[in-house]
Amino acid sequence: MRATAARKGRHMIIEAGQVAVVTGAAQGLGRALAAGLLDRGVSVALADIAQERLHDTAEAFAARGGQVLPVVTDVSDAAAVGALASRTLEHFGRVDVVVNNAGITAHHARPLWETDSEDWRRVLAVNLLGTVHGIQAFVPHLVMAGAGHVVNIASLAGLMAVLFGSAYCASKHAVVAVSETLRAELNILGLPIGVTVVCPGYVRTPMTEDMLTLLQAGDNAQLAERLPAGLPVEQVRASLEHGVLTMMEPEVAAERILAAVKADQLYALTHGDFEDSARRRAEGILAALGADQNSPAG
Ligand SMILES: NC(=O)c1ccc[n+]([C@@H]2O[C@H](COP(=O)([O-])OP(=O)(O)OC[C@H]3O[C@@H](n4cnc5c(N)ncnc54)[C@H](O)[C@@H]3O)[C@@H](O)[C@H]2O)c1
Repeated sequence: MRATAARKGRHMIIEAGQVAVVTGAAQGLGRALAAGLLDRGVSVALADIAQERLHDTAEAFAARGGQVLPVVTDVSDAAAVGALASRTLEHFGRVDVVVNNAGITAHHARPLWETDSEDWRRVLAVNLLGTVHGIQAFVPHLVMAGAGHVVNIASLAGLMAVLFGSAYCASKHAVVAVSETLRAELNILGLPIGVTVVCPGYVRTPMTEDMLTLLQAGDNAQLAERLPAGLPVEQVRASLEHGVLTMMEPEVAAERILAAVKADQLYALTHGDFEDSARRRAEGILAALGADQNSPAG
């Protein structure tokens, strides 16, 4: 077993010679995470559904000397993720770090009751089941090797409510729950595999481009035309502006995530700006627990 080479205690030491898998690696945060791993001498299997972009990204990394394997993969398809695991092991002979990063948002910002079920299915299939498929395909190999680390990219939307983004928000809460459960199961079984769930705020990627475009839409009347009827435009603008102000470059987020993996943190919160919202939610739950202390368990 190579457990002791890769780990000191429970801490993952990311080092040259290891192999990582990153889903959604063709652009954005996934690409930045792959770049950070390649910079450390790790070989990376790059998985993405966007074939052309994936190959361009792989070529750019290879031109800089990175050891990469592009594998076109739809993470919502369990068999495709299983094939990704087989290809990775055939090609590199090992796997050490699994980054379940691929994610999507719903097509439209809508109140929950107007979000159509097709959007719910699509978002849950990629964000939640995509993560589950990554875990199911790769964790058995990490367990066999006796070492490794799973990194699941959730979002701050996994820790708090996001108005007009219910499907995304629910999918990311589920990614947090899956990660907490996985870590607890591995711990109780004494398996030295680390789990980190990442809850970033806004990161400057193609996913958040729309937000910038919306803000550049001009005055409130023009902004209102691009939003579902009845949304409070002033509040939407304020929240978009806050988002833009706190937006982080993907390379910075990636470095913070890799530092959290090294420290074997369960939660990686790349942005500090949302502390108040997280505290308000936790305090609400604690207050309810206190209030219910004497009521019958239910
Ligand atoms: N950008 C942000 O502000 C932000 C904030 C919090 C969390 N996140 C999360 O970070 C992750 C990466 O987001 P990003 O901003 O880089 O997004 P992005 O849209 O820029 O990139 C996502 C990548 O995932 C790929 N992808 C989409 N569906 C896929 C599928 N079914 N199978 C495989 N690949 C698929 C896309 O082709 C794309 O290359 C996502 O899980 C997202 O929810 C992003």
